[in-house]
Amino acid sequence: MTVKTAILISGRGSNMTALLDAAAQPGFPAEIVAVISNRPDAKGLEKAAEAGIPTAVVDHKAYPDKVHFELALEDALAASGAELVCLAGFMRLLSAEFVNRRLGRIVNIHPSLLPSFKGLEPQKQALDAGVRVSGCTVHFVTPGMDEGPSLLQAVVPVQPGDDAAALSARILAAEHKAYPAALRILADGGVRFEDGRAVFADPGAETALFP
Ligand code: GRF
Repeated sequence: MTVKTAILISGRGSNMTALLDAAAQPGFPAEIVAVISNRPDAKGLEKAAEAGIPTAVVDHKAYPDKVHFELALEDALAASGAELVCLAGFMRLLSAEFVNRRLGRIVNIHPSLLPSFKGLEPQKQALDAGVRVSGCTVHFVTPGMDEGPSLLQAVVPVQPGDDAAALSARILAAEHKAYPAALRILADGGVRFEDGRAVFADPGAETALFP
């Protein structure tokens, strides 16, 4: 049994590709049933279509407000049959209502060690703060931008001379391992959302997850 999963994107979709590649492997516990973008020009849409994955565009600009945009998003998700939702570079903040309907079944990836450096340009924020390590976080989505308990974090060094592009590339490579690893354990039932925490079925699994 695989868990039907939708990926929401807004742009190039490299994390989406990492998830598609992982899900194409025999025995992976999640099946990607849809890639949905809020931007018609998202590069990731072409890549998903090439991989034979059904795609949909729900253009936020085509709706008068967030309520109607999210109703259309709900329709697209319902049509796909998705049980899980992975946000992968999805650049719209979802409402508390939308998120609360899916608590524990919606996850996001962010290129910092949350709760540090939420929001835009987290790699630049890390460099400006002078930290020696950064990384990425896969977390359950709760209302509030880049909030919710972490399922998995990967640590990446900040090297002398790094600019935002260099650090972003190093973190992105870690993201491409972390997101499939997190989706695997989530779809396998190895972690669940409970009382605002990520609870692991096997206490050893949390540390074993470090990619
Ligand atoms: C990634 O760095 C992700 O962590 C952030 O947005 C970026 C999306 O990149 N949320 P891609 O579209 O997956 O290549």
